[in-house]
Amino acid sequence: MTTETTESALSRFHVKSFGCQMNVYDSARMADLLEDQGHTATDSPEDADIVVLNTCHIRERASEKLYSDIGRLQKSGGKSGKQPLIVAAGCVAQAEGAEIARRAPAVDVVVGPLAYHRLPELIDQARAGVKIIDTDMPLSSKFGQLPARRHQGATAFLTIQEGCDKFCTFCVVPYTRGPEVSRPITDLIAEAEALIAAGAVEITLLGQNVNAWAPESGGIAGLIRTLAGLPGLARIRYTTSHPRDMDEALICAHAEVPKLMPYLHLPVQSGSTRILKAMNRAHTRASYLETLARVRAARPDIALSGDFIVGFPGETEADFEDTLSIVREVSYAQAYSFKYSIRPGTPAATMANQVPEAVKDERLARLQTEIARTSTAFNEATIGRKTSILLERPGRHPGQMIGKTPWLQSAVIDAPDAKIGDMVMVEITDAQPNSVHARPLAEQVAA
Ligand code: SAH
Ligand code: SF4
Ligand code: F3S
Repeated sequence: MTTETTESALSRFHVKSFGCQMNVYDSARMADLLEDQGHTATDSPEDADIVVLNTCHIRERASEKLYSDIGRLQKSGGKSGKQPLIVAAGCVAQAEGAEIARRAPAVDVVVGPLAYHRLPELIDQARAGVKIIDTDMPLSSKFGQLPARRHQGATAFLTIQEGCDKFCTFCVVPYTRGPEVSRPITDLIAEAEALIAAGAVEITLLGQNVNAWAPESGGIAGLIRTLAGLPGLARIRYTTSHPRDMDEALICAHAEVPKLMPYLHLPVQSGSTRILKAMNRAHTRASYLETLARVRAARPDIALSGDFIVGFPGETEADFEDTLSIVREVSYAQAYSFKYSIRPGTPAATMANQVPEAVKDERLARLQTEIARTSTAFNEATIGRKTSILLERPGRHPGQMIGKTPWLQSAVIDAPDAKIGDMVMVEITDAQPNSVHARPLAEQVAA
């Protein structure tokens, strides 16, 4: 608790996270800040005196969630029937702070993703009756000004890099998160050690372009090797990487660092080189496939994942068929697919030949059928493997637990005595498109 905070000002807060894992990390850090200020977390927004909506601007539908949530909060009122103090944070706040203030006067604080270390003072000011919009992109990083991690749990996120310099023509991220900035290695080791001390056995390194992390410090491959030396840490993952920054050192780490899990999320967006060029992706179909071939040579069992956009302006049926064929060729273990969504201010928003919504719908359905086929095939190919799973949550039925395999499959097991955070040796016995079933093996390893 800070000395300025009076007892009467303390309250219950709720942070709701939309969008990507970077936002999940930021939400946890905002919770750290508020707890440090003496406030207490609550799981239900109805009980909260302060509600932080950590928003996502990536597609139109994601952005609109902010406004529907504000409407709901206004209707329900807080625990005293009083409307809570509402904070709009995240990428919508950054992109359209002034519009939020105009369209949703109930919002008390608007704070962008690079300025949220100032949240406690902004809340104090709002309580004194001053509405604030803070969408600065300060030169000094917020990270050095955040309190210690309070995170408890077996899996943890660690943001190592933020922002994007790639400017894909469809994407808002370079505008909402600013330029690529890498956090210093000493800070990252210290945060990783704090997470491990608090029980983390798996750390996922995060960034909009995580493999662009600090080339002058040895790049992400060097960081992974350093973290792999920390006792107590069993698994390392990273996301999201850009095909352009998939260097030899990182590929080599996949062959040589056992703690680095055999999973790679490498978005391609389209299988058509013509469309990739219009997207300003800085890779072609051929160069992307060549990168994956090198990754597979280094780590033959690697699970590959990707992101796809259908209906980018000018996408023809032939372009779309190139996307279907790249899915078949790569045989993704998992993939995320989206209909192109016009984002104001991005170059693609004003391109000619926007694709009709009905065509996007039809292509998305065909793409998802293809992805379901390859992900089922991947999961089926793992039947019979003996491996470890890290338990993350209870299953649907009593006695069931769900954990993640090294290949990031959700594995369902019957293990009434196991608890979240346990590392359990299993044999994979059955496969669905989005999960596998497994049975615990008699011989167990320590977590
Ligand atoms: N940095 C990552 C992705 C960040 S955004 C990368 O470079 O791959 C996550 C995904 O959202 C993107 O990979 C893309 O598939 C999707 N996306 C981004 N902008 C979009 C838009 N305007 N419409 C539809 N999908 C979009
Ligand atoms: Fe967006 Fe492209 Fe940057 Fe990824 S690389 S965040 S898709 S601009
Ligand atoms: Fe969304 Fe911002 Fe993440 S736009 S996807 S929350 S970087």
